[in-house]
Amino acid sequence: MNLTLKVWRQPKGGAAGRFVTYEAKDISSHMSFLEMLDVLNEGLVKKGEDPIAFDHDCREGICGMCGFMINGSAHGPQRGTTVCQLHMRHFKDGDVLTLEPWRSAAFPVVKDLIVDRVAFDKVIQAGGYISVPSGSAPEANLTRVPKPDADLAFEAAACIGCGACVAQCPNGAAQLFTSAKVSHLGLLPQGQPERSQRAVRMVETMEAVGFGSCSNYTECEAVCPKGISVSYIARMNRDYVLAKLDGVTREPARSAKGGG
Ligand code: SF4
Ligand code: FES
Repeated sequence: MNLTLKVWRQPKGGAAGRFVTYEAKDISSHMSFLEMLDVLNEGLVKKGEDPIAFDHDCREGICGMCGFMINGSAHGPQRGTTVCQLHMRHFKDGDVLTLEPWRSAAFPVVKDLIVDRVAFDKVIQAGGYISVPSGSAPEANLTRVPKPDADLAFEAAACIGCGACVAQCPNGAAQLFTSAKVSHLGLLPQGQPERSQRAVRMVETMEAVGFGSCSNYTECEAVCPKGISVSYIARMNRDYVLAKLDGVTREPARSAKGGG
């Protein structure tokens, strides 16, 4: 098949960008979308032109590195699919496709279709972990987890941190990502000691690093390649409100002996 691609080209962050039109010819329907771009880039390199920069790593839908807008949809038209797992058979000969990077103030463009998602790392650093107690590893079977909680935690843990939810949201909100991370730890017994502080630190960091607020558009859920439900946002908001009612702040509680 032959396609016309209108691709956002921007040499670096802060520089002016523009759409450049390319013709992608003789594309096999068996190729993935990124393989199609590889072929286009080989042609550009042969002509001495700058190849189109895009992020990727696993190309198996598990690492969360890939992602850009295709005709206004994060990861393209196929639901539940990362762009690395999107195949050309979902497109028609003669299609005109517009490719843009994630558009969000919190994700500045690095080059072409690549954005900097370090804002997600800051949200995780604020509380997306369980502190490791010293001593030997506990016997795993001593910590029982109710099956419904295990299932919910497992589904939340499927978030790959790709950023499609933020890109599709008219507010550039990161509630779906943050709520998945808050919930997959907060649902498990090991996550209980830090549950309140985790919710406060992650939610307030999410706001501080430039993400917008949730207005319940639910565009995030529609484009999430891992099917994360917006119900996790309600769970996160409940944890946050209860923690604030208990007087929990972003700063860690100081020891009574003045140790920190
Ligand atoms: S919630 Fe979904 S869309 Fe958002 S970062 Fe996680 S996997 Fe990507
Ligand atoms: S490259 Fe890893 S999820 Fe797409």
